[in-house]
Amino acid sequence: MSKGTYFIRTFGCQMNEHDSERLAGMLEAEGYRKTDSAEGASVVLFNTCCIRENADTRLYGNLGHAKAIKDRNPGMKIVVGGCLAQKDRSAIQERAPYVDVVLGTHNLASLPRLLRESDEAPSFEILEQTEAFPSALPARRNSTWHAWVSISIGCNNSCTFCIVPAVRGKEISRPVYDIVQEVQGLVEDGVVEVTLLGQNVNSYGRDIGGTPLFSKLLYALDEIRELERIRFTSPHPKDFRSDSVDAMANCRVVCEHIHLPVQAGSNAMLRRMKRAYTRERYLDKIAMVRDAIPDIAITTDIIVGFPGETEAEFEETLSLVEAVRYDAAYTFQYSARPMTEAATMDGHLPKEVVQERYERLAALQDGISYQRNERMVGAEQEVLVEGPSKKDPARLTGRTRMNKLVHFPTDGAEPGSLRTVRIDKANTHHLEGSLVEGRTTDAPRSMSLPLVASTTSACSGCA
Ligand code: 5AD
Ligand code: SF4
Repeated sequence: MSKGTYFIRTFGCQMNEHDSERLAGMLEAEGYRKTDSAEGASVVLFNTCCIRENADTRLYGNLGHAKAIKDRNPGMKIVVGGCLAQKDRSAIQERAPYVDVVLGTHNLASLPRLLRESDEAPSFEILEQTEAFPSALPARRNSTWHAWVSISIGCNNSCTFCIVPAVRGKEISRPVYDIVQEVQGLVEDGVVEVTLLGQNVNSYGRDIGGTPLFSKLLYALDEIRELERIRFTSPHPKDFRSDSVDAMANCRVVCEHIHLPVQAGSNAMLRRMKRAYTRERYLDKIAMVRDAIPDIAITTDIIVGFPGETEAEFEETLSLVEAVRYDAAYTFQYSARPMTEAATMDGHLPKEVVQERYERLAALQDGISYQRNERMVGAEQEVLVEGPSKKDPARLTGRTRMNKLVHFPTDGAEPGSLRTVRIDKANTHHLEGSLVEGRTTDAPRSMSLPLVASTTSACSGCA
């Protein structure tokens, strides 16, 4: 029996996307149908993030908007779940008393019960520990050809800037067999690409077998026929070892891309951040992965303006970026988070200083991203089609195994199909290409770069 419709808005990372698919799955099992607008919905759910302060601010803005809709439609229920709910707890109901249900990160499975209880009075439940691994819950996936697969939840590290351990708890790994079974089932449903999720995928398994099992997991998944691509996020540089690199190089399905968050380039800052590696160790890991997979794309996360960051320390971040030559970097201005050690450190920097450094870093990285993309002009790439380009329906959008976004003329291919595309033009954040006639899936898996650089190419230096 239909109970009306639900609308979900997800903030933050891929783990939240994964959890939202479970929340949607449970609502559908209860008889709700999905809608794309909060207006007229029976349930409006915000799955929240609290990693930086602007994520908080955005939630309260959205709640104000939902309240205006609820005033016109009093039967509508507003639900707040996820990391900010775990962090703010009862504060959400104090700031927004019209919210019907608040649930944290550890009890997604309680959503149907909490919704029923909220017929009587607002219901609120935050637990300290995970009651059921979220992957065991029914899912309503947003894509037919891609799936998020959680391999572990929580984090045992204590990076001083990061609120994740406080809101997601200790690391719990899922058994290898469960993950393989899930991926097998997904492939039978038509999924061709999976992204493995964990706060620190390289420590996966330590809590269940005593030793990390990530490379074993990759080898096991590589056996699944008809799975085309595996991505994963994120490895922690301190735990990233040669067995994982070997598995990446040897497994047909593992894409030639690694996201290896560095956060800062100076040893003093890395120490204050409690990252447990040095600049030199990090650069050794980059060399190790490039030795094994020369054309791999490397991306990273960097925080600018961590407490006490000096100009000289910031310049070490710039010089590290120049040394590594990342394909792309996600750069963040430091945001003080409650329950973190860095929030109480001395030396918080004025906004103008952080902004100015942030812009210098972005300009440097944009130049490098462009050069990294320009190396690919002339190469033939296997592209997994995501769908029509948003700007131009005559073109398709897809990603190479190196995770580069490519636009190319449509041949009517459905999302999830593979095509071979020759790269014709580089931009900072995407590539443009043309279909290679008569070829669908037989592009070289690892990129073969053209021997002669394109004529428009500026020297991009060594990779
Ligand atoms: N301020 C700014 N950026 C942060 N990140 C995590 N915590 C903070 C913070 N307090 C960034 C890190 C991490 C990414 C997911 O978010 O770079 O890798
Ligand atoms: Fe946060 Fe560090 Fe854990 Fe990543 S490894 S989730 S940055 S504490």
